[in-house]
Amino acid sequence: MTLLTGKVALVTGAARGIGRAVAMRYAEEGADVAFVVQKADERASSLEAELLAYGVRAKAYVANVSDFELVKQLVAQVKADFSRIDILVNNAGITKDGLMLRMTESQWDDVINVNLKSAFNFVHAVAPVMLSQRSGSIINMSSVVGVHGNAGQANYSASKAGMIALTKSIAQEFGARGVRANAIAPGFIETDMTAKLPETLREEWCRTIPLRRGGTTSDVASVALFLASDMASYVTGQVIQVDGGMAM
Ligand code: NAI
Repeated sequence: MTLLTGKVALVTGAARGIGRAVAMRYAEEGADVAFVVQKADERASSLEAELLAYGVRAKAYVANVSDFELVKQLVAQVKADFSRIDILVNNAGITKDGLMLRMTESQWDDVINVNLKSAFNFVHAVAPVMLSQRSGSIINMSSVVGVHGNAGQANYSASKAGMIALTKSIAQEFGARGVRANAIAPGFIETDMTAKLPETLREEWCRTIPLRRGGTTSDVASVALFLASDMASYVTGQVIQVDGGMAM
């Protein structure tokens, strides 16, 4: 018996990076996986095939996660296809960095909409399903900068801090009906998102991390597995930093 046998997971931003690793880890542990991609492409179909290879059910759904109505329809379709939803991972995210005084309104709006409003959209649509099941685990992918802030990332940091406050609020609202909510705050993880950083900055960051390395998508997926599973049955409203000790 694997950790997530019989559970249905819905993971956003799963085409690559952390979301892909989480979807794969969940399938490896026996979960059926509904995953959300921005567009249907070969990455989405290769992920679907890789998940199916674990002998679980898997299906890709295409949506812009910041679109409230689309997300509502998508979640209804997932419920129709899989009958239940036990795990929601709000992982899709973007950066549009800039110093505060140079930041444009669209840089602010885009990042808040894709990172934070999307989490509202999915929680709003999925929570009724979980509450009627009287069980569920919601995991919001925040960031260490959502806890500590970061120069040049006011929009991104605010969106990630918002996800933490959202997590703690819904943990309080839903706890009595068996639905848990937690946030993961990754530090510096090697993905497409961080690949665009200059090599010198990456090296400088790694020198300041107590564990002396950037994190892997698998480091984050392990914590996402723990929070999704019954091993975390008494854990809710928490923020777990997965950052090699970068920010304490
Ligand atoms: P990534 O850039 O590799 O993947 C992000 C995913 O989100 C992609 O699959 C993309 O298609 C999807 N996405 C973006 N906008 C979307 C939209 N409007 N609708 C639907 N899907 C959309 O990023 P990575 O590194 O895997 O990050 C995943 C999450 O972890 C993000 O929320 C990110 O902010 C967070 N995070 C990442 C860190 C890192 O060091 N890589 C550190 C802290 C947090």
